[in-house]
Amino acid sequence: MPTIQDVAKRAGVAPITVSRVINNSGYASVATRERVEAVIAELGYVPNTLARGLRSKRTNTLALVVTDITNPFFTLIARGVEDVASEAGFTVIYCNTDESEDKEVRYANILVQKQVDGVLLVPACSNQKSVQFLQSNEIPVVLIDRTVPNIETDGVRCNSEAGAHQLINHMLGLGHTHIAAISGPENVSTSEERIAGYRRALAEAGLSSNEQVLYGAFTQASGYELTNQALEHIPNLTAIFGTNNFISIGILKALRDLGLAVPQEMAVVGFDDLPTNMIVDPILTVAAQPAYEMGQKAAELLLHRLSGTVPEHPQELILATEIIERQSSGTTLN
Ligand code: RIB
Repeated sequence: MPTIQDVAKRAGVAPITVSRVINNSGYASVATRERVEAVIAELGYVPNTLARGLRSKRTNTLALVVTDITNPFFTLIARGVEDVASEAGFTVIYCNTDESEDKEVRYANILVQKQVDGVLLVPACSNQKSVQFLQSNEIPVVLIDRTVPNIETDGVRCNSEAGAHQLINHMLGLGHTHIAAISGPENVSTSEERIAGYRRALAEAGLSSNEQVLYGAFTQASGYELTNQALEHIPNLTAIFGTNNFISIGILKALRDLGLAVPQEMAVVGFDDLPTNMIVDPILTVAAQPAYEMGQKAAELLLHRLSGTVPEHPQELILATEIIERQSSGTTLN
């Protein structure tokens, strides 16, 4: 049975455009309308009448689904979303999935029942189920922070690969050649991208990175445990790269408990800054993500998608990270 995504993909438009053509609501050019109608006929697509009934009225409600509501990175994203949505007269429902695909799918079902107008989603992994379910119920989705393969939808994220590449080049420039990377789960795009940037920087310097990457979770406990493993199994380390804020905190705690001075005995760099308004003396050198701006841009994009004021094909906005050099990366190795 063809779905709204199949029609959208074949017609080269976003699913919400197919929805507008079916419901004869919102903007769609004559050419687009004709192309979508031709594809609907060609595929024999039958709109989900219940969803269509649900979709015919607006609730002026958006949902933001994040993977770890305790992480200040997502708090800043939520602040950006809230400021844009409330200004536009929308209420935001906040959901936390704890990096669980099952919870994410359950939330997707609940949000359809609650007839939200649009969803801003930080995907827990690379599975397409939740996005496809929301789109088949004619609810537009903007992915934030992460990507999902083979999904046609809008997205806002930072350039994790370039940020990690720049951060590791900074460490190579200080003379480090044995740098371990402690990462979150392999099936999450931000892990993949940051490790790819790390590996590219080392490869460009003629250095191997095969035995120096450890995968775990985006948590302090994982950073702590994997730091101990790295120091036990990887020889000659002089630096460790944490691929998110919580992992970096775990690395610093492990080094403290091992009695290793940072940066004198082990340098540390991390992805994501920590809220400097909560830390008296920030020491971590980081690739900082523009989290608040990511939230703002994602909410603006979703509202434009709802009002039909963006091009019909999916939009992707990639923001730059900022390298902030502090004490933890040390100075040139003697
Ligand atoms: O600390 C949050 C960041 O780490 C986000 O980019 C999230 O995807 C994780 O990778």
